Amino acid sequence: MSEFSKREIIEILKDDSQNNRLFSLADKVRSEYCGNEVHLRGLIEFSNICKCRCKYCGLRCENKNLERYRILPEEIISIAKNAVDMGYKTIVLQSGEDDFYTKEIMCEIIKEIKKLDTAVTLSIGERSFEDYKAFRESGADRYLIRIETTDENLYKKLHPNMDFNNRLRCLKDLKELGYEVGTGCLVGLPEQTNESLADDILFFKEIDADMIGIGPFITHPDTPLKDSPNGSFIKALKVMAITRILMKNINIPATTAMETLHSNGRIIALQSGANVVMPNVTSQTYRAKYEIYPNKICVNDKPEHCRKCIEGKIASIGREVSKDYGFRYK
Ligand code: 5AD
Ligand code: FES
Repeated sequence: MSEFSKREIIEILKDDSQNNRLFSLADKVRSEYCGNEVHLRGLIEFSNICKCRCKYCGLRCENKNLERYRILPEEIISIAKNAVDMGYKTIVLQSGEDDFYTKEIMCEIIKEIKKLDTAVTLSIGERSFEDYKAFRESGADRYLIRIETTDENLYKKLHPNMDFNNRLRCLKDLKELGYEVGTGCLVGLPEQTNESLADDILFFKEIDADMIGIGPFITHPDTPLKDSPNGSFIKALKVMAITRILMKNINIPATTAMETLHSNGRIIALQSGANVVMPNVTSQTYRAKYEIYPNKICVNDKPEHCRKCIEGKIASIGREVSKDYGFRYK
């Protein structure tokens, strides 16, 4: 039951009658391979400026209805300090693809944050091998870059001016440089099929990703996909559960997008294969402006509030917040 063929994955995705069995099997695999602990990552969304035009994303450069911001290094570092003081053992630095943050600037930020007692994850998009190498040498531990979809035709349609092969190159470079590598996909994109989702899952396994983030597509009114319906929460949960069963010991976040579509989405995900949550630690002034999709959770909350909120929820399902850095289990 733990080595699905493509055909079997498609069958599981099609048939909703066995969903509860699927979710409890994924929960069991998570418990066996990753234990009871939930890893919390403090997410800093430090710039919403982006040179890309991904058709689903509210940060796309052609969206003129978004007020843009950049947080300067000094403030990023102070946000990170505050998060470490709250107990976070990983800081995730995420932004749009913003060339303001040159190799040198990023390296400075990484080095400063690495002086605190924390792992550092980057999620800043496609860069050169040299940049990735310099970030790694400055102390970055992990890198997140979702493939979004492995269907090359769909990828082309959704990502004008981008190149699927360059994205693959990034993943390969990051692995080679010794990062823990996170990737993942969107679920419910227009024209996306169960077959293509099965390919996504098998791709995650093939490249032996260390972390997989899966989220439902959420319609943003200021994008070219404004008339496409939201993806399904359940379908995203199923893709996540199958990934857990296949990949066993990797880290899988209960994504914020899941909670946006379902008020208890992250807890349901934590009980269906997930073992990570990435609460926002960015100051309130910026949160609403990092509008990848609408109705994002926690936009009016302070970092301290989110930490307490999620700790309470995790305790309520009999799980524990990890005090460890939360690398992939060996
Ligand atoms: N709905 C859900 N997720 C989205 N992302 C971007 N736009 C959307 C959307 N409209 C996801 C992408 C990206 C991550 C940071 O946010 O998968 O990798
Ligand atoms: Fe932000 Fe619950 S995690 S309010």
